[in-house]
Amino acid sequence: MSDNDKYLAVQVTDVWRWTDHLFSFRTRRPEGFRFQAGQFARLGLPHNKNEPPSIWRAYSIVSGPYDDFLEYYSIVVPDGAFTSRLADLKPGDTVFMERQNHGFLTLERFTLQGDLFLLASGTGLAPFLSLLADPLTWDSFDRIILIHSVRAKNELAYREQIEGLSRHALFAENSHKLTYLPTVTREPSEFLSMRIPQLIQTGELEQKSMAPLSKERSKFMLCGNPDMVQDTRTALKERGFVSARSSRPGEIATENYW
Ligand SMILES: Cc1cc2nc3c(=O)[nH]c(=O)nc-3n(C[C@H](O)[C@H](O)[C@H](O)COP(=O)(O)OP(=O)(O)OC[C@H]3O[C@@H](n4cnc5c(N)ncnc54)[C@H](O)[C@@H]3O)c2cc1C
Ligand SMILES: NC(=O)c1ccc[n+]([C@@H]2O[C@H](COP(=O)([O-])OP(=O)(O)OC[C@H]3O[C@@H](n4cnc5c(N)ncnc54)[C@H](OP(=O)(O)O)[C@@H]3O)[C@@H](O)[C@H]2O)c1
Repeated sequence: MSDNDKYLAVQVTDVWRWTDHLFSFRTRRPEGFRFQAGQFARLGLPHNKNEPPSIWRAYSIVSGPYDDFLEYYSIVVPDGAFTSRLADLKPGDTVFMERQNHGFLTLERFTLQGDLFLLASGTGLAPFLSLLADPLTWDSFDRIILIHSVRAKNELAYREQIEGLSRHALFAENSHKLTYLPTVTREPSEFLSMRIPQLIQTGELEQKSMAPLSKERSKFMLCGNPDMVQDTRTALKERGFVSARSSRPGEIATENYW
């Protein structure tokens, strides 16, 4: 199946699993496909091999804007129309992607100074991995605080990669800026165990990150479960922060996954 004006056919090169319901995959990066760190693409799958794509879903791009591949991180929803098909993906298969990319979790949402808080639940980690793969993120902020909230410890995908940034050729010299705070909410672990809004309300976030929240310095990106996004936004509003809009500057940018 070939390209058309709206979409491209791209080849899957790697697929790997984190748990029975979480996996990642890479595709070739089409020549000339440009995006900003934090954006998402719309991916399409056909009903049957050799047919045009018939079902489309938004997927945050995990890889950085200078990587020569595109990477994605996906849930498998039981009986999900898209992910029950996507779960069978193998290297060599074709997926489709719209030529146009989108998204609000980009650096251009904020004045680039101070501390950047990246607050994710589940696969909502994806756009933040892309931001961490972009040198501009590291150059723009004094501190980057990444919280990844998951139900179970084995869902802390990409943990080794995040911890390994301190040895990364491009980012090692700035890696002191990053505080990575996994939080595991449904089983005992060595990590934090509170939901993100409670981490804000109790002061635990500031204590663990040693980054005091302030209107002048703090910027927040929220991504994943819409209830998490809503409750976190409420906790931030209680502290005086407001959403960034095209018509009005603010400190909060969000993306709901469903
Ligand atoms: C801007 C944007 C970016 C997205 N990026 C990603 C991404 O990078 N990775 C990813 O896995 N999904 C992402 N999603 C969700 C994705 O578009 C689909 O919803 C997901 O692939 C499930 O599709 P489905 O047809 O199997 O189930 P759907 O019919 O789309 O969803 C059924 C139900 O499954 C649950 N669900 C859907 N997506 C998720 C999820 N990611 N994690 C947990 N529960 C979920 C919700 O309860 C939802 O109501 C994104 C969504 C948006 C809007
Ligand atoms: N994780 C699984 O075992 C599993 C397996 C197969 C399918 N699924 C499906 O995947 C979907 C859930 O995806 P997910 O695993 O990413 O789980 P999720 O329910 O989105 O939970 C991810 C993290 O977000 C937190 N969270 C949820 N609601 C919140 C809120 N209002 N405020 C703050 N934090 C909140 C959770 O904390 P809490 O733990 O406190 O809720 C958890 O730490 C469901 O549709 C489910 O059926 C999940």
